[in-house]
Amino acid sequence: MSSHPHDPASTTRKPITLHRLRELYSSGEKLTMLTCYDATFARVLDEAGVEMLLVGDSLGMVLQGRSSTLPVTLDEMVYHVKSVAAGNKTAWIIGDLPFASYQQSAEQAMQSSAALMQAGAQMVKLEGGGWTAETVRFLTERGVPVCAHLGLTPQSVHALGGYRIQGKTDEAAATLTAHSKELADAGAAMIVFELIPSTLAAEITRLLPIPTIGIGAGVDCSGQVLVLHDMLGITRGKLPRFVKNFMQGYTGIDEAISAYVAEVKTLSFPDNAIHGY
Ligand code: KIV
Repeated sequence: MSSHPHDPASTTRKPITLHRLRELYSSGEKLTMLTCYDATFARVLDEAGVEMLLVGDSLGMVLQGRSSTLPVTLDEMVYHVKSVAAGNKTAWIIGDLPFASYQQSAEQAMQSSAALMQAGAQMVKLEGGGWTAETVRFLTERGVPVCAHLGLTPQSVHALGGYRIQGKTDEAAATLTAHSKELADAGAAMIVFELIPSTLAAEITRLLPIPTIGIGAGVDCSGQVLVLHDMLGITRGKLPRFVKNFMQGYTGIDEAISAYVAEVKTLSFPDNAIHGY
């Protein structure tokens, strides 16, 4: 493989740790995350300075062409976490616990987390609030860093009645706020907010002692995440308003990823007026 024309961040930066992520958060610097499913992109994203690679179960839709994330298995997640870990040098790797791999009991969640961590994940992500607090406590007490995921939780798409904005009513906003606090108290190290009003995300972010990572949740979250194929403009079909095609205006993938990092860090992306709800 040829060498890159730019100076890769991963040749100069130390491996990203939870401690480093906390330092960045405390200093007010925005955190960058993108989904990643293979070794080649892991290297590209790491070199562009993306701090967190999320091996998301969105791979069910992005790579497998399924209509939801529900069919994704733990074995498939393990395979992709291994691939990402093989290509990565310094970024923090988060593995998604897929549907039905953690809902049964905290012990089941621990076993599934062990599989992802033995494959190379440094943190696991699980969806939902309320009942998940107990599982988050169980995992964190046993040395598994956890990222929670609230708002639109795609594994519950059928219960939610589709991919629609969450937390719009006063009652739903209050529940989301309560769940966020419970998860932080239980030891979650960060929370992804998907598709919720920007004002609500801003309010909860101010209340919490841990970073929030937004996807369709506005610029005031502590960091941002997008699905890689969406932000590279190669996903077909109608995309949600919160997606920006970073290939527009740039000549290649390296440049587009670096632009994403720069725009998140400088608060240029997302623009609440364009990408917010
Ligand atoms: O699976 C995934 O890619 C995700 C992101 C959309 C946050 O959970």
